[in-house]
Amino acid sequence: MRVLSFVARSSLLAPQASNHLTTMLHAAGTSETEPRPPPKIIQGGMGVRISSWQLAREVSRRDGLGVVSGTAMDVVFVRTLQDGDKGGHFRRALATFPNQLMVEKALDKYFIPGGKPADKPYRSLPLWALEPSRQTEEATILGNYCEVWLAKHNDDGTPTGGLVGINLLTKVSLPTIHSLYGAMLAEVDYVIMGAGIPSKIPGILDSLAEGNDCTLPIEVSGATADDESHAVKFSPKSFWNGSGSPHFAERQLNRPAFLPIVSSTTLAQSLLKRSNGRGPNRGIDGFVVELHTAGGHNAPPRGWHFEAKDTDEPAYGEKDMVDVKSFAKVAKGLPFWFAGSYGKREKLREVLEGGGNGVQVGTLFALAQESGMDHAIKQSILTELVTNHKLHVYTDPAASPTGFPFKVLEFEGNNVSTLSDPKVYDARPRVCNLGYLRSPYLKPNGEVGYRCPAEPVNDYVSKGGDADATVGRKCLCNALCADAGFPQVRFFTNPETGNKDIYVEPGLITTGDDINESKHLVKKNEDGTWAYTASEAMDYLLSGLEINDKPNTKTFEPVRV
Ligand SMILES: Cc1cc2nc3c(=O)[nH]c(=O)nc-3n(C[C@H](O)[C@H](O)[C@H](O)COP(=O)(O)O)c2cc1C
Repeated sequence: MRVLSFVARSSLLAPQASNHLTTMLHAAGTSETEPRPPPKIIQGGMGVRISSWQLAREVSRRDGLGVVSGTAMDVVFVRTLQDGDKGGHFRRALATFPNQLMVEKALDKYFIPGGKPADKPYRSLPLWALEPSRQTEEATILGNYCEVWLAKHNDDGTPTGGLVGINLLTKVSLPTIHSLYGAMLAEVDYVIMGAGIPSKIPGILDSLAEGNDCTLPIEVSGATADDESHAVKFSPKSFWNGSGSPHFAERQLNRPAFLPIVSSTTLAQSLLKRSNGRGPNRGIDGFVVELHTAGGHNAPPRGWHFEAKDTDEPAYGEKDMVDVKSFAKVAKGLPFWFAGSYGKREKLREVLEGGGNGVQVGTLFALAQESGMDHAIKQSILTELVTNHKLHVYTDPAASPTGFPFKVLEFEGNNVSTLSDPKVYDARPRVCNLGYLRSPYLKPNGEVGYRCPAEPVNDYVSKGGDADATVGRKCLCNALCADAGFPQVRFFTNPETGNKDIYVEPGLITTGDDINESKHLVKKNEDGTWAYTASEAMDYLLSGLEINDKPNTKTFEPVRV
């Protein structure tokens, strides 16, 4: 077999193009002079909190890139504290945060020793807006800091030395800068972003690393296309001034490598030309190429326009496929990983031989023991798999308020009912109380308002939204928090009995089309539950390199800068 591709490709890395990747590889390597190869396996970021710090840490210990999800981390943070922070992990991470006054404030407000009663609602945070409350800013920074810090450290607080990334959705734009800043304070190695076109992120990473102010323009419906006055602004100086420790703003932070997620060669080329970072590749350090069979949100098919009330799965064709060798031609020598049904050992080998650096895998890791998926939901899915029930994944054109197709596992397991069941969906009293997927719009008085097509229909329409656009929309914010074991509990008046009842938010499970393929790893534990570990998933994926040949063990020699 020929020498695997990443060795040859490394010499193609242009010096400026690979700055962040090589600096980071050195910094995270075993010593200053011992660079390591880029990872062959990226465990994909899976929000909300499915790619938990425990999962990311395990993968990074095995020389993969472990990726935590930064999506809704402010809510995960305050809910974890209200659940009593079992094991004391967040408090362990918080003890290392540079400003302990901020930590004390958060603990005073949210930490409940022993946890809140299961039938009491979680205390909420003010929703994200163009001008967020200080409380929300701090919870976002602290939450992302904790999740990355925990993924990078052993239980005794020593660094694992593994590589850790953070994943954010471009469409969930209001918390982006603060999430990145929290992750960078914890020395995140990679930032990976899709679900939109993240061309403004490289420049923000450059600015945050140097402690400079930065701005992320936000699209406001009804405002003119060139109106960039609507933006989230963040100033490290003002932030630290506000917490009484202005000197922290002077600290230089490592600039993480940035990998946008793309679904076409055209988008990759456009990002290389139009992103706002430094250097010839404009701050892009590589790509994840994600195809439409992947879990989570998918890029729409070429030329697809969603019509309100449409329930047909989007039809993908040849033009939506990307070939590894063709992508290698447009990648300008940057590393890249393929995703979307690439969680198979033969697929890893195929990408390496085609000129790529490896694969990003989601579904296989989402069901692993260390993932943050709620225990009952995970057991239910694994039980279905081992009893040979074929699970079906539907590409829902309407579910996500983002407007992107969203993969939904059609699933009604033992004692688990999800919004994929029309009865459960219809019975859910609509509410918008987390608000990550709200879009800003211009009100007649010139102020900015926020609306989400999954909110109560009357509210959406009163804000100028189209009633048809609300059909079939699902509150992913609440459902995905429920999947991670943080369901909100609320009181509502039962329309049939008139009684005040407790409503517990149901989940909505997303996985890739290939979910049935995870079955071969599942084993029975002594206590009768089903499981496999992230490390076993890594063993399986890497075993593809041993099928006909020994895996390449050479490290690549990154360009020194
Ligand atoms: C449960 C789940 C949640 C996901 N959430 C996100 C997310 O928040 N952001 C993102 O960029 N990708 C997300 N993904 C996509 C994964 O990061 C990964 O690219 C994809 O799962 C790869 O395809 P596979 O599922 O066939 O392995 C999610 C996937 C799953 C299964």
